[in-house]
Amino acid sequence: MCGIVGYVGRAEDDSALDVLMEGLARLEYRGYDSAGVALVTGDHTSTRKKSGKLANLRAELEADPLPPSTTGIGHTRWATHGGPTDENAHPHRGGADGKLALIHNGIIENFHSLKRGLLAQGTVFTSETDTEVVAHLLAAAYDEHHDLTEAMRVVVADLEGAFTLLAIHADQPGVVVGARRNSPLVVGLGADANYLGSDVAAFIGYTRQALELDQDQIVTITADGVTVMGFDGAPAEGKAFEVTWDAAAAEKGGYATFMEKEIHDQPHAVADTLLGRTDADGRLTLDEMDITEHQLREIDRIIVVACGTAAYAGLVAKYAIEHWTRIPVEVALAHEFRYCDPIVNDRTLVVSISQSGETMDTLMAVKHARLLGALTISVCNTHGATIPRESDAVLYTHAGPEIAVASTKAFLAQITACYVLGLYLAQLRGGSFADDAQSVMKQLGEVPGKIETLLGRMDRVKEIAGFMADTRSVLFLGRHVGYPVAMEGALKLKELAYIHAEGFAAGELKHGPIALIEPGQPVFVIVPSPSSEHGLHGKVVSNIQEIRARGARTIVIAEEGDEAVEAFADEVIRVPVTAPLLAPLLTVVPLQVFALWLSTAKGLDVDQPRNLAKSVTVE
Ligand code: G6P
Repeated sequence: MCGIVGYVGRAEDDSALDVLMEGLARLEYRGYDSAGVALVTGDHTSTRKKSGKLANLRAELEADPLPPSTTGIGHTRWATHGGPTDENAHPHRGGADGKLALIHNGIIENFHSLKRGLLAQGTVFTSETDTEVVAHLLAAAYDEHHDLTEAMRVVVADLEGAFTLLAIHADQPGVVVGARRNSPLVVGLGADANYLGSDVAAFIGYTRQALELDQDQIVTITADGVTVMGFDGAPAEGKAFEVTWDAAAAEKGGYATFMEKEIHDQPHAVADTLLGRTDADGRLTLDEMDITEHQLREIDRIIVVACGTAAYAGLVAKYAIEHWTRIPVEVALAHEFRYCDPIVNDRTLVVSISQSGETMDTLMAVKHARLLGALTISVCNTHGATIPRESDAVLYTHAGPEIAVASTKAFLAQITACYVLGLYLAQLRGGSFADDAQSVMKQLGEVPGKIETLLGRMDRVKEIAGFMADTRSVLFLGRHVGYPVAMEGALKLKELAYIHAEGFAAGELKHGPIALIEPGQPVFVIVPSPSSEHGLHGKVVSNIQEIRARGARTIVIAEEGDEAVEAFADEVIRVPVTAPLLAPLLTVVPLQVFALWLSTAKGLDVDQPRNLAKSVTVE
C-alpha cells in the first residue's frame, strides 16, 4: 500500500517539487520503506529516489537538487515486489531515452509473463519491481501513439491485478496521466493547478475540492483541466466532492483513529494478500523460495512460531493446514519455543508469523530453528525486515503498513497467507485435498466482499460497546477455529480497554470457567456455522443456553440464517455465510470493532495503548 501524488501547475508556477514533497509527508503513513519523485525537466524527466524514510529523500534532494518544474509525480513505497532498495524505489523510468517516469501502487499479477516478453526483446531492467515492467510497456506505447493517455489505455488492457499508476512524459510536459483498478486514486481540483493522490491527504494542504474516480478509469490532468475515461476509452466523469476532514483526519482516511481505518482496510488486506498467488497454470506460488519442492514434500511436522495476535493467526491456521495437508501443526509462542528443547530436524518446517518482521522473540525462535536444521518460512508484512531475511522462504502479507499498535488487518492477512501456504503444501504433496486448492482460493476471493458487508453492519456493536464502558470483565467463547478467535477477541480488549478478558474453548466451559458466570456477566459467543462437521453448532448453542441460564448477558456472533441462536441471545451479530474454515476472517471483525469502541467509550488512546509497543525488539 504505497502513497501516490501527482501535480501539474501553470507555466509560471515551478513549485511541483514542494507540492509533491508536502504530499508525500502527509502520505508517509501509507508506506515508508522508500520514497522518490520525478519531474518533467526540459526534454527529459529527472528522478531522485531513496530507500528508507522520507528524510533520506530530502537529504538526497539537498545534496543533488532538481531543477524547477511545473509537473511531477511522487511516491512513498511499501514494498511488494523487490526489497526496499534505492533501485526498487519509485519512480521507474521506461524506454531508453529517460523521457517517461511511472509510479505504482498495487500488484501486477501477470508481470512475470510480461517481463519475459520484454526481456526477449532485449529490454534492460534496473530493478526487481513489477512497476518497471509497466514503465517499459508504457514508454513503448507512447513511442507508437505519441499521447500518454492513449498509451496508458493501451497498456492497462494487458495488466492483471490491482494497481494505481501515474505517469509523466517529457514530450508532453504539463500532463500527468493516472489509471486505477482496485486501488485508490482521487483527483484534487485547484484554481491554477490539479492534483492526483492515493487519498485526499496528498493534496489537502492546497485544495478541498476533489473528484472521485470509478474503477477501471484513466484520468489526465493539466494545470487547467481534468479528463476522465474508462479503460475502454469511453468518456466518463468523476464525482465531485468537498473534503471536510482536517489534515490529520485525512491521513486516517477520515476515521478518528488509525485502528478504525485499519479495520476498514481489511477487505483490501485480504484481497491483496491473495493477489498474484497463482501461476499461468493455476498452481499456487510463494514469494521467495530457497526450499526445494522435494524438501517440502518430505516435511513431517510444522511448527508455527509467533507472538500475540500473530500467534492466534497461527492457531487458526493450524486447523486449516492440518485438515488440508494431514501434516501435524504445532503452534509455539516464540519466546517459549527455544526454551522447551524443541524436537526439530530437517523434516520440520518452522513457519514464523510476524507483521513487523522484527519481533525479537520470533527472530530468536527462527534462528534457533535453523540452528537445529529446520526449514524456515516467514509470513511477514514488511519487505526486507530481519525475520524474512533470516528465513529460507517468504510469503508476504499485503496488508499495507499497520500503524495502530493493536493488530487488526495484519491478523486477517496472516490467516489468509497461512491458508495460501497450506493449500500450496496440499497441492505440492498430492493427497485428497490437492484438487480443492483452487476452489478454496475462489472461496477466499469472496471473503473481502463479505467483510465489506459485515463492516456495514457494525452500528449495533458500537452501541453495545458504548453501554459497556463500566464493564470490568468480558468472556469470549469459541470452538474449533472460533477458539483462537475468542482468544484474539479477549486480547484486543485487554490491549485496548484495559479490562480483564478471557477467551475459552466453549467445550472447556463445564470444566471450570462456568463458575465465573454470574448475573450480568457479558459473554461473547462465536457460534460455528450450522454446516460445521461433528454437530459443533448444536453443542455451542447448548453452551449459550447453559450460561444464559446462569444470568450471563450473551452477545452471539452467528451466521446469517442461523435461527437456533435467537432464543438464547441477548444480542445477535450476523456474519455472512462462508466455509467453516474461513469463518475467522469474518467473526473476528465484530470483536475488533467492539474493542475499538469500548476503548473509545472509556476515553482511552486507541492507537497507542499504555505500556505497549508496535514492534517489540527486545526479548
Ligand atoms: C506486539 C504487538 C502485538 C503484536 C505482537 C507481534 O506485542 O503489541 O499487537 O501482535 O507484537 O508482532 P509482530 O510484528 O511480530 O506480528
